[in-house]
Amino acid sequence: MKFNILTIFPHILDSFFSESILKRAIDKKLIKINTVNIRDFTNDKHKTVDDTPCGGGAGMIMKVEPIYKALQKTKKNRKNRIVLLTPAGKQFNQNIAKKYSKLNQITFICGRYEGIDARVENFIDEKISIGPYILNGGEIAAATIIEAVSRLIPRILGNIKSIEEESFSANQPFELEYPQYTKPEIFKVGNKKYRVPKILLSGNHKKIKEWRIKKAKKHK
Ligand code: ADE
Repeated sequence: MKFNILTIFPHILDSFFSESILKRAIDKKLIKINTVNIRDFTNDKHKTVDDTPCGGGAGMIMKVEPIYKALQKTKKNRKNRIVLLTPAGKQFNQNIAKKYSKLNQITFICGRYEGIDARVENFIDEKISIGPYILNGGEIAAATIIEAVSRLIPRILGNIKSIEEESFSANQPFELEYPQYTKPEIFKVGNKKYRVPKILLSGNHKKIKEWRIKKAKKHK
């Protein structure tokens, strides 16, 4: 699966993609990250990607032409979805992640500054937000979506079972998860002892399963 990221900060996510599971997925060619510098699609000396708002007002607006040209470059005859990242978009969730994980290619347009020329909306499939808050730009949103989608692509997680066991995959709107522990059995802070629940050390798998179901909490 290929992810195109249209941005004016093409190196902002480099370290994110060069560690851990995503790095392995890239090395194994299960995913490809294609960062496209929107500035490369300007044709003036100063490589201008923004301009003042028509009608006046504060701040700068990202220009439509460089984004349009960058999109033309990334478009291929593949199942490609073009997503504009903006706090005004539909909120991203696990169901959208599942749908995206079946595509061949997703192209993210990362807005910056105070806004983006509204005519960009003629060239996209949808607007997506990662949450009701305002970031400086869409790059972190792109990284978030890429991580959530990638881990649903078969063979990316080493331990497939952990995906299957994840309560998310049971199609629930909110995850149901039970508390997990690892060694040591007793963790001491001063006089206080924090213990792993005894049942988990009992070896009684039926009882452990019942305990986990009972303890599973909805958390939003
Ligand atoms: N750009 C700025 N804020 C954003 C958000 N919350 N989601 C997606 N893109 C954004």
